[in-house]
Amino acid sequence: MSGKLSGKVAWISGGASGMGEATASLFADEGAAVAIVDIQRELGETLTRRINDRGGRATFIECDVQREQQVARSIEATVAAFGSPSIVVNCAGIVHVKQLHEYSEAEWDELMGVNVKSIFFSIKHGLAHLTKQPRSYMVNIGSIGSFIGQANTPAYTTSKGAVLQLSRSIALDYAALGLRCNCVCPGITDTPMLRYHMSKASDPAGALAERLRRVPMGTALSSHDVAKAMLYLSCEDSSGVTGASLVIDGGYLAAAEWQSPPRTAFMDP
Ligand SMILES: NC(=O)c1ccc[n+]([C@@H]2O[C@H](COP(=O)([O-])OP(=O)(O)OC[C@H]3O[C@@H](n4cnc5c(N)ncnc54)[C@H](O)[C@@H]3O)[C@@H](O)[C@H]2O)c1
Repeated sequence: MSGKLSGKVAWISGGASGMGEATASLFADEGAAVAIVDIQRELGETLTRRINDRGGRATFIECDVQREQQVARSIEATVAAFGSPSIVVNCAGIVHVKQLHEYSEAEWDELMGVNVKSIFFSIKHGLAHLTKQPRSYMVNIGSIGSFIGQANTPAYTTSKGAVLQLSRSIALDYAALGLRCNCVCPGITDTPMLRYHMSKASDPAGALAERLRRVPMGTALSSHDVAKAMLYLSCEDSSGVTGASLVIDGGYLAAAEWQSPPRTAFMDP
């Protein structure tokens, strides 16, 4: 590893699983001290141990990112453990698979709370720490659903559109303070969330195969593919980039229609 984040402190929500886990792991390997902020204690503590056992620096902080006081406390705990963060990554997210008329108000609020309001809380309580550094970074996770609709996930796609717009607003409002804010927009990525989403289909494997036929690379992305983009946007490799969306989708959004061949070179190990 090249030590790109040597001496940095990163607060990573949703850091216990999927893309957040891959990001926490990569950032730690690049020299950052990482605060893994999540509701899944067991997974978060296991990852923390793994990172610390290989000589990295990590701490787990249990936090429900929908709750303002919990986010505030998680940032204070990060400062107490490692000092002020210069990197905030908002990876925590949930999906509901149902149509709009089937939602309860509480479900709608929960989804918007985890996927969108959490970003507001992370700025509200993180900004003073971020801007103690000459350069600071926020990366939020949108989705291909930030740009296009998707069946049976109306609140999710709404939330991901909002994440992109909020990222742009943050980029503008705090650029003068040295904060760059960008939005990573993944396509179909193999994580527990994707498996949960597919489990709602009558034939999960068939539903996934059908979706992947629409991906020019023909395969699901890995969390590590996304983590590498998070790293790019969390250091000076991306100097000059702010308010941007970085789509990582195997080509999905490039085509209105697409039928992948049964096998592509990207599927080879
Ligand atoms: N997997 C995909 O195909 C895909 C595509 C585009 C965008 N995304 C987005 O990527 C992000 C990461 O998702 P993933 O696919 O890695 O799924 P994941 O389920 O593995 O990770 C999501 C993490 O968020 C945490 N989380 C959920 N609610 C929380 C809360 N209230 N407080 C704190 N943490 C909470 C979960 O415990 C989990 O660790 C999400 O924002 C998701 O919407 C996923």
